Amino acid sequence: MKLILLGAPGAGKGTQAKKIVAEFGIPQISTGDILRKAVADGTPLGTEAKKYMEAGKLVPDEVVIGLMKDRLQEDDCKDGFILDGFPRTVEQAEALGEITDIDAVISIEVDMDSLVERITGRRSCPKCGAVYHISFNPPKEDGICDACGSTLIQREDDREETVRKRLDTYTRQTSPLIEYYAGKSLLKTVEGNGSIDDIYASVRKILLGL
Ligand code: AP5
Ligand code: MG
Repeated sequence: MKLILLGAPGAGKGTQAKKIVAEFGIPQISTGDILRKAVADGTPLGTEAKKYMEAGKLVPDEVVIGLMKDRLQEDDCKDGFILDGFPRTVEQAEALGEITDIDAVISIEVDMDSLVERITGRRSCPKCGAVYHISFNPPKEDGICDACGSTLIQREDDREETVRKRLDTYTRQTSPLIEYYAGKSLLKTVEGNGSIDDIYASVRKILLGL
């Protein structure tokens, strides 16, 4: 199963990807997570990416495409994968098409006000990557990761002014991919305004029908 999860910042790509990983055992490949790790590790990639991420802009296509070419060669991808946050431009989608075929593109559609509420309430575990929401998916103990006990953090780019820029970047540069993949008959749309479990039920139905 080779999947793309498409959706605006905060739509729930990461949340749904983790549920797919748990049930279907294919890896989640999140370009955002890879870039954030590079930033945290202070690698040359991280230094380059940081300035774009902080500004709510996309990291240049050639950087991300190069990174994904390498990642998709790795052994764990041979039985499939979930792409979370890639591709994000038509140029990235075309590059991906040269690397591999895709079975389905699942677009999670959520209204703007909910997106902002979801992102500003998000808390993430810097150690194991688990994602929570202060109201919609709180950890058992305030500010502490259920899975590994680390102190939860708010992502650098989750401040409201950066969030608005990221949403704007999505509308301008990424939303054209909806039409792009519809044109290739790969697009499956999921109504993303319900609960995490309701949305997963819709995602799962699509996956079982592939
Ligand atoms: P990235 O990390 O991909 O961020 P994003 O696309 O902005 O998406 P998010 O991770 O914010 O949201 P999500 O859809 O994963 O939602 P989540 O499940 O966490 O990218 C970050 C940056 O890296 C980019 O801005 C760019 O600079 C760079 N970058 C990355 N990829 C790139 C690429 N390909 N090209 C160039 N640059 C790239 O959910 C959000 C919150 O809502 C959580 O708190 C969650 O608990 C909650 N939630 C989830 N579902 C529900 C629900 N159904 N109901 C209520 N709450 C919910
Ligand atoms: Mg994410």
